[in-house]
Order: sequence, then C-alpha cells, then structure tokens
Amino acid sequence: GQAQVLLKQNQASVTTGITKTAVINCVGEGISNFKNAIIHWYRQRPSEGPQRILFISSGKASYDNESHKDKYRCWKEGTNICKFSVNDIHSSDEGTYFCAYWEY
Ligand SMILES: *[C@@H]1O[C@H](CO)[C@@H](O)[C@H](O)[C@H]1NC(C)=O
Repeated sequence: GQAQVLLKQNQASVTTGITKTAVINCVGEGISNFKNAIIHWYRQRPSEGPQRILFISSGKASYDNESHKDKYRCWKEGTNICKFSVNDIHSSDEGTYFCAYWEY
C-alpha cells in the first residue's frame, strides 16, 4: 500500500546572543531509514517561488550556494529529527523556511 509520510515543523525559535540564531526543527514520520533520507530545506520569500538552500542525507549538508555554508546549518538528530539553523539573523532573512522530502 501507500506509505504515509509526514514532515512536521515546529515554530522557529530565536535564541538571543551576540549573533542571533534561529533553529527550525523538522520531524519526519513514516520515513524508513531517516538517517539516509534526503531532506531538503527551502526558503520562500513573499511573491517569490521557493528556493532550495541545501539538502542533507547521511553526512554533511550540500549547499546550492557554497557561500551559504556559514549562514545556514543543517544536521540530523535522533531517529527522525532534522534541524536547520539560520545564523546572524537580519531583517533580510525574513521568509518562510520549510523542509521537504520525496519518496521514490
Ligand atoms: C551566493 O550567495 C552569495 C551570498 O549571499 C551571493 O552574493 C551570490 O550572489 C550567490 N550566488 C548565486 C549564484 O546565487
């Protein structure tokens, strides 16, 4: 039968400090082998299409733009959590960030 796959996102939390960093969680449900699953992270600005920032499978994240390596980080935690952080937040970082996963 058809597998049910869910990606749940909590609200972005912003931590205060010298540089502000927002961490967004993505929780995968029903993804077999989550550790190796390819999770994509996108950013969408108002009136623009979604733009992929990076994707991650079992190792390090791959960036669509290598200059974004310090700006965005991504890692997996536990059995089904994928985390994404935006560093050194400025107003220009405003937008909707979301994770995506495709089953083949
Ligand atoms: C990559 O990111 C840098 C820094 O944000 C930006 O200046 C540059 O235009 C980007 N390159 C491409 C191909 O989008």
